[in-house]
Amino acid sequence: MDEETRLIHTGSEPARLGRTVNPPIQRGSTVLLPDAASLYDDDQLTYGITGLSTPVALQNALAELEGATNVTLYPSGLAAITGAMLAVLKAGDEVLVVDSAYKPTRRFCDRVLGRFGVTTRYYDPKLSPEALMGLVTSSTRLIVLEAPGSLTFEMQDIPAIAAAANARGVLTLIDNTWAAGLLFKPLAHGVTMSVQALTKYVGGHSDCFMGSVATCDDAVAKLLGDAMWDIGWSVSSDDAYTMLRGLRTLATRLPRHAENGLAIARWLQERPEVARVLHPALPGDAGHAIWKRDFTGACGLFGVVLKPCSQKAVHAFLDSLKLFGLGFSWGGYESLALNCDPQLGARSIPVDLEGPLLRFHIGLEGIEDLKADLRRGFEALNAAKA
Ligand SMILES: Cc1ncc(COP(=O)(O)O)c(C=O)c1O
Repeated sequence: MDEETRLIHTGSEPARLGRTVNPPIQRGSTVLLPDAASLYDDDQLTYGITGLSTPVALQNALAELEGATNVTLYPSGLAAITGAMLAVLKAGDEVLVVDSAYKPTRRFCDRVLGRFGVTTRYYDPKLSPEALMGLVTSSTRLIVLEAPGSLTFEMQDIPAIAAAANARGVLTLIDNTWAAGLLFKPLAHGVTMSVQALTKYVGGHSDCFMGSVATCDDAVAKLLGDAMWDIGWSVSSDDAYTMLRGLRTLATRLPRHAENGLAIARWLQERPEVARVLHPALPGDAGHAIWKRDFTGACGLFGVVLKPCSQKAVHAFLDSLKLFGLGFSWGGYESLALNCDPQLGARSIPVDLEGPLLRFHIGLEGIEDLKADLRRGFEALNAAKA
């Protein structure tokens, strides 16, 4: 079946879950058991913290999307990343984290993992798989990957890294949010854990938080499941319902985000104020060959390096936008813009850019309206420079 068809039908079991097209929202903490022996039977649903029918319907659908045998759900994308790390790491372990990882991932490594005796080393996203494997020591338990990288959009050779890590017995985790589980299939390339902030494209409407970890590794699935109970994470059935609804239209929305995004990216490349556009689907981008080989499409998120100008000019640009919202997160139907320089200071390896860095999320609006908005921004930027 086509991916589009599978996303419409997976995890929907009207015969079992009631006869509506969508699953009922099963709310509940206490679950009533039929007899005393069932109270302590781990094979049954004994408590609503996990296993209610609505989250399970979402887990089944995501397992199909990711080609996974197991999916765990978390209250946010960040909780999925940190939850997976807490599940597999122990004191004395070392984790290698790509320097272009989502910034709160690094904050967790530095502020939390460090306190529990886990060491983090950051590596350059541009390292070859061989050079990256050269950093692995007998303590390295996990390599954290992200492609394209947050804000700077570097691509990594995931299949080669996963193969080499598997050969050394090192686990791998990828933040696969840009690909929304659809455009790139990490598990098919040997990655141990594929993490998504469902908050972005799966939800698709900027109104709900959730994260997922998908795996085909039974031992890792057991660790992830145990950690859910040990730490006490849970997702609400209402939120699982919202995510499942978003998932049904993911394969229809994403190509439109990609098309709009590439149209705006190409238009920006021609602007005199722009030094460079960071988008792996653009020919000429450093990551283009890997993107073309491994990904089946793009989303609407990319970076733009401006020619050198003051912070005042950057703020004038952003403050004059009317259609682009200024805000964090992405993946909703609406366009967003953000200046990134305040976030780049945390990196271990200095980022070599010609000028200020902006990030755009291109929504589902009409292209000409978005261009008109950006034109207004550039006029304000130039006026602030003068
Ligand atoms: C690449 C990436 N991963 C993870 C997250 C975290 O998702 P959430 O906001 O659901 O915690 C974000 C949020 O912006 C993100 O950009």
